[in-house]
Amino acid sequence: MFMKLAITAVTALTLSVGGVAASEKIHTESVDFSFEGPFGTYDQNQLQRGLQVYTEVCSACHGLKFVPIRTLGDDGGPSLPADQVRAYAKQFDIYDPEKDEDVPRKPTDHFPTSADPNAPDLSLMAKARKGYEGPYGTGMNQLFRGIGGPEHIVSILNGYTGEEKEEAGTTYYENHAFPGGWISMPPPLFGEDVEFADGSSNELEKEAIDVAAFLMWTAEPKMMDRKKSGFIAVILLTMLSVLLYATNKRLWAPVKQRAKDETSGES
Ligand code: HEC
Repeated sequence: MFMKLAITAVTALTLSVGGVAASEKIHTESVDFSFEGPFGTYDQNQLQRGLQVYTEVCSACHGLKFVPIRTLGDDGGPSLPADQVRAYAKQFDIYDPEKDEDVPRKPTDHFPTSADPNAPDLSLMAKARKGYEGPYGTGMNQLFRGIGGPEHIVSILNGYTGEEKEEAGTTYYENHAFPGGWISMPPPLFGEDVEFADGSSNELEKEAIDVAAFLMWTAEPKMMDRKKSGFIAVILLTMLSVLLYATNKRLWAPVKQRAKDETSGES
């Protein structure tokens, strides 16, 4: 029995040490996003800038097939006006089986699938990846700073060293943030890749943060609603606890009084 326990403990220790060693090699930047923390919200302008970076750069390879284009007009998201959503949808074609030809998309259609078959769909990427886990055991980082998915995306976009190598006909690019250190995505951003209408900075770092925020929204468009209903639930439960405490006191008050009278009568 003891032997078994000891083996399990040693295995667990080796595994966790291995995990730490692996996560030390990849470098994830910490970014303060507006949507982190229990009261965080998306920044509408940032989402619009991120949409622009996605459209002008990333969409050449990556799709967002789970995202309906109409949600670009939703409150709490990029909140584009209806005419802009319609205009946005039109730039992507979709095959219409009835007409047997490609027609412009409508807001009710989804974003296209990945144009490059090797490029993963980005709809849920910000939730599928986690950038950091610490501090160990408490889960506080996850609560206040999220699981680090958007940080992972920022770090990948900033993590290129400029080194390249070719293996079996594929070019790999050295990247500090990618597990294994070599990624097959060529560096997509260099800075000044897009011109923001609101005059925001288009340095590499800023573009990366904006597109990562946008991808967090595609992965979790209802985050603000979820936080709001969570907060309301906490308030209601607190009120309920106070009421229950008061009711409990009141209900038992006569019984307690009687018990008190009895004991004082005895003495
Ligand atoms: C030239 C095509 C191309 C462009 C443009 C491109 N990507 Fe990629 N991307 C890829 C490929 C291919 C992969 C798969 C890499 C791999 O697994 O080695 C990838 C992988 C990724 C990943 C997944 C990393 C992981 O953890 O698995 C993310 C995130 C990503 N790209 C984000 C972006 C963003 C954001 C942009 C726009 C700023 C962008 N990409 C532009 C081709 C591209």
